Amino acid sequence: MTTSSKKTANSMWGGRFAMAPDAIMEEINASIGFDQRLAVQDIRGSKAHAAMLVDVGILTRQDVDAISQGLDEIETEIAAGDFPFSRTLEDIHMNIEARLREKIGDAAGRLHTARSRNDQVATDFKLWVRDRLDDVDGALKGLIAAFLDQAERGADVVMPGFTHLQTAQPVTWGHHMMAYVEMFARDLSRFADARARMNESPLGAAALAGTGFPIDREQTAKALGFDRPAANSLDAVSDRDFALEFLSAASICATHLSRLSEELVIWSSAQFDFVRLSDKFTTGSSIMPQKRNPDAAELCRAKVGRIMGSMVGLLTVMKGLPLAYSKDMQEDKEPVFDAADSLGLALSAMTGMVQDMEPNIEKLRDAAGHGYSTATDLADWLVRELNMPFRDAHHVTGSLVKMAEDKGVALEALSLEDMQSVEAKISAAVFDVLSVESSTRSRTSYGGTAPDRVREQIKRWRAML
Ligand code: ARG
Repeated sequence: MTTSSKKTANSMWGGRFAMAPDAIMEEINASIGFDQRLAVQDIRGSKAHAAMLVDVGILTRQDVDAISQGLDEIETEIAAGDFPFSRTLEDIHMNIEARLREKIGDAAGRLHTARSRNDQVATDFKLWVRDRLDDVDGALKGLIAAFLDQAERGADVVMPGFTHLQTAQPVTWGHHMMAYVEMFARDLSRFADARARMNESPLGAAALAGTGFPIDREQTAKALGFDRPAANSLDAVSDRDFALEFLSAASICATHLSRLSEELVIWSSAQFDFVRLSDKFTTGSSIMPQKRNPDAAELCRAKVGRIMGSMVGLLTVMKGLPLAYSKDMQEDKEPVFDAADSLGLALSAMTGMVQDMEPNIEKLRDAAGHGYSTATDLADWLVRELNMPFRDAHHVTGSLVKMAEDKGVALEALSLEDMQSVEAKISAAVFDVLSVESSTRSRTSYGGTAPDRVREQIKRWRAML
């Protein structure tokens, strides 16, 4: 990138300026270092604008053909890494326009009729965010598909369910996987909502007040895949809600990823040993040969920090800004770029991890039975078979758990005599409900952990996606 050594005023707006900007001014003012990522969207917007200008009779066909061809060449240069980005030209919009002028002469100067950089940047940025929303949509569907496969394979695998990270009741691996399907599917719908709401075109709002030229905003909106033109020009150039909504949905999604990551970190530890992450998503230690570190999961757990930081950052930039455009808004892009990159990477890495991870079935089953996890099943049996009020059943079960604990055995290892010493009416049939398998099979309420219920949900989601 070249820096300003020219002592002349800016060629884009230098008419009333006698001096070039100070070097520091140029540095703080320029956005080309990052907004070059909007090049494709900028060219798309310019082409739609030019095509409309010829249709309404503002530009000649000849000029617009030259503009279009010049923009195509510029797009090729940028893709090939041959474009001479210049910080003196501040941002992507002026860089492209200046280059176009070098290529086609005066016609380039007519492209900026009836538009401003304010509607241009709002349009470009919206198109960019919309593209990322579409990427995230695909990535989330991939992640959900990986969970559905895991759930299907592990629909009957029993594992401990936790509350407070204490063993609570047995659940199935499939059920646990499907909990994440619900979470990420809500993310999917949040991103879709944001996309539907943001899909209005700012182009043609001009600087802030609209324009006296007889432009056709419906036409440019349609050409760029927007549902309609934004209805208020002041709002159109100063709205960054679309970026904030993207960041909010991204923050919630990253929060879900971090919860999942935390489980994978815990589960893959030697102490838990619930799951084996594949070699593709773990690293070794340079000093401790036995180590398999869940780095990818840890990094996915951490990404939420910068994604949520981006959201708080942009909310703070936007807070208190008067209408319409202020240069503060140039600070909108980097947090969104960073959050989008981070989320995309985290979703891809997580999808890989989920696809390849292997539940340790024996270990999970064994752990499912620890901690008197079927105590609730015993209490439920007392209610159902002996017509005991639940509170009394809870008390009796508590005494039996205490007895098992004192003897150092599992609940089902107590003898019938032991049980009857606490509650005389207990019969041998109670032992049928004390295994972890019968416990999970019995939880057939809608949304419950019973394998058949989980299979229903897998089917429902497969049909929906
Ligand atoms: N580089 C600017 C941005 O990213 C473009 C808009 C400039 N508009 C203006 N009135 N200076 O926000």
